[in-house]
Amino acid sequence: MFEALTPQPADAIIALMQACQADTNPDKIDLGVGVYKDATGATTILKAVKQAEQLWWNEEDTKTYVSTTGNAEFCRLMLDLMLGADNPALTRIAASQAAGGSGALRLGAELIKAASPNATIWASTPTWANHIPLISSAGLKMDSYPYYNRETLGVDFEDMLAHLEANAKAGDIVLLHGCCHNPTGADLSHDEWGRLADLLVAQNLTPFVDLAYFGLGRSMDDDTYGLRKLTQICPEVIIAASCSKNFALYRERVGLIAVVCKDADTAAIAKSQFGAIQRKIISMPPDHGAALVVRILSDETLRQLWMEELSEMRDRMRDLRRKLSEALNVQGGETMSAAVVNQNGMFSTLPLSPMQAIKLREEYSIYMTNSGRINIAGTNNENIPRLATAILSVL
Ligand code: LMR
Repeated sequence: MFEALTPQPADAIIALMQACQADTNPDKIDLGVGVYKDATGATTILKAVKQAEQLWWNEEDTKTYVSTTGNAEFCRLMLDLMLGADNPALTRIAASQAAGGSGALRLGAELIKAASPNATIWASTPTWANHIPLISSAGLKMDSYPYYNRETLGVDFEDMLAHLEANAKAGDIVLLHGCCHNPTGADLSHDEWGRLADLLVAQNLTPFVDLAYFGLGRSMDDDTYGLRKLTQICPEVIIAASCSKNFALYRERVGLIAVVCKDADTAAIAKSQFGAIQRKIISMPPDHGAALVVRILSDETLRQLWMEELSEMRDRMRDLRRKLSEALNVQGGETMSAAVVNQNGMFSTLPLSPMQAIKLREEYSIYMTNSGRINIAGTNNENIPRLATAILSVL
């Protein structure tokens, strides 16, 4: 029967990661997959994670199953971290641990499918390349709203609002990046989050917030501002969060799905749905990474250490943004220079065509997606001048 299968194209981001790994040029620059790298190019395990792992090795006394919604303490600590422990929305929220941010998105999509199968999910143009296959494979219809202007390299906020107002129907879902927009790094201002929340309520639209990079943008408070604002204004909010980047737990697959409901009774039903959906797909999420997050967030010393390491990653990326911005601030590079320094998190999308991105790869061993997305953490003090020269030369 398997001869009926058709070959599938490799995922563009994963294929880029593998192509870069295979490149033997010692001067290659890896700006591809969204993974943090230190100044030596290494993606190390955080000290807080290592210490938590040592403590946990001594404390863990069973490997028996946890539950279909995973580690409840992990869910509680993560919600407190993202929403604030005094957030009134916590009284009407359902949450489940998920297998990474992608597992969380999938559980969210399945819950929408169960609750409102005809809803359309509106995604930004552009959005993370896997959002569309991941969410639409749950059987949901997707559409797009304008977001990033590839000429100004900023958010077309008025167009975004006008488009949603004119085209989204009551009951639809709007997929948003809570911070550090992937792939552009262009985020909404505080004022824009408030205006967006008002529109969502007026049009009876539900926000679905993907919070994959929180803590790596401007600050923990700033990176969760938009989500908190939505929970103050919108009666219902869907949240998919990841610990891949901020805890550097990538392969451990640590994520969380949560829905703020209109009341606590509905939240209890939504939670039972999460358990039932997860049971049908993977039965239960993996525990190890979530147990480490619990260990870190519930221990003052480890939490402090983690916050310091998070600031270090964030500050390094801001510093690299400043340096790349300076290097691009020459004739022809002014718009990129201004954008790169103001954008947030790991990514910026440069105004390069696929041909130009391919040329950078083939002629300079500089790896970025064909959309022109760069991972700023892949740069360093030594390679920034060469990178800027190469970008300007292909433009
Ligand atoms: C990325 O956007 O590069 C990351 O989120 C990794 C991935 O799985 O695509």
